[in-house]
Amino acid sequence: MGPLSAPPCTLHITWKQLLLTASLLIFWNPPTTAQVTIEAQPTKVPEGKDVLLLVHNLPQNIAAYIWYKGQIMDVRHYITAYIIDTEMIILGPAYSGRETIYSNASLLIQNVTQNDTGSYTIQITQRGHGTKGVTGHFTLYLELPEPYITSKNFNPMETKNVAALTCEPKTQGYTYMGRVNCQSLPVSPRLKQPGKNRILILTGVTRNDTGPYECEIRDVGSICSDPVTLDVLYGPDFPSIFPSLTDYQSGENLHLSCFADSNPPAEYTWLMHGKFLQSGQKLFIPQITTKHTGIYGCSARNPATGRERSTFKMIVVA
Ligand SMILES: *[C@@H]1O[C@H](CO)[C@@H](O)[C@H](O)[C@H]1NC(C)=O
Ligand SMILES: *[C@@H]1O[C@H](CO)[C@@H](O)[C@H](O)[C@H]1NC(C)=O
Ligand SMILES: *[C@@H]1O[C@H](CO)[C@@H](O)[C@H](O)[C@H]1NC(C)=O
Ligand SMILES: *[C@@H]1O[C@H](CO)[C@@H](O)[C@H](O)[C@H]1NC(C)=O
Repeated sequence: MGPLSAPPCTLHITWKQLLLTASLLIFWNPPTTAQVTIEAQPTKVPEGKDVLLLVHNLPQNIAAYIWYKGQIMDVRHYITAYIIDTEMIILGPAYSGRETIYSNASLLIQNVTQNDTGSYTIQITQRGHGTKGVTGHFTLYLELPEPYITSKNFNPMETKNVAALTCEPKTQGYTYMGRVNCQSLPVSPRLKQPGKNRILILTGVTRNDTGPYECEIRDVGSICSDPVTLDVLYGPDFPSIFPSLTDYQSGENLHLSCFADSNPPAEYTWLMHGKFLQSGQKLFIPQITTKHTGIYGCSARNPATGRERSTFKMIVVA
């Protein structure tokens, strides 16, 4: 967008002057047809950028243009006006300091905010019988920013940590949904969603909270973030020793294996009568004899949670 040409005359007017101006421009009747079309350039404007509302199909013999915020053409919604004859720009109560009206009726809005969205009306008064005029309407939408999820900790520990997922960027006025999947909405009562659903808090996180999370920004349209995975660290649970068989005959092979649910997977140690036998998930002793009778223990340790759990099993060799 080029530099702004300085308007020949810009006035900040008082309420009294405003009413006077309004009375000057009041020779106005509702139009029979609205020929005027308004186009935004660019068509999708992200927050903080500039947008030009171009007015096409202007009628003949124009006396003045007035831009309003909204669809109501009253003094309170009056942004700015341009008087053709005097090349005078008059600012109204709805002027934010970021709008510029041009002699061709176009309106430039700089650094658009969420507040600038919504409808705009241009009122074009024509010379002549003092009763002619046309209006044009336009609804401005902001381009939705692509959301993404942040968290201080994507690997919370089960029951110890609170997981907090935040949907970024923070954009005023948008509705945010923190949820497991943009296609469905399985929100359990345990989930608290303060801050306009921008933050998803999982208190007392469990392994069942592991999985992909997405967030969505909703406005006129909606846009979903890429999924992020919450990987809850847990365990180990109490290990189990397989098979459950306890009685063996001399000469048999002893095959034991141990499993404890854990994330990340547990590290295993085998014990006999409380003394270290070997590490690894499986224990194999060929051709056992009666001296192998005893209490076997499996100890599972999760290096991430630092937790350790053990199970013991009596083996009798006859
Ligand atoms: C009107 O004026 C603005 C600013 O000079 C310009 O960018 C725009 O192309 C002009 N044309 C129309 C149709 O508004
Ligand atoms: C745009 O508006 C924001 C908030 O109103 C302000 O912080 C920022 O400095 C503005 N940027 C420009 C380029 O005017
Ligand atoms: C948006 O409008 C509200 C209320 O009119 C106002 O309090 C707020 O400061 C505005 N925000 C911006 C960024 O202009
Ligand atoms: C996880 O879900 C399973 C199946 O619904 C349930 O049996 C189990 O108790 C849950 N675990 C935790 C730690 O909440």
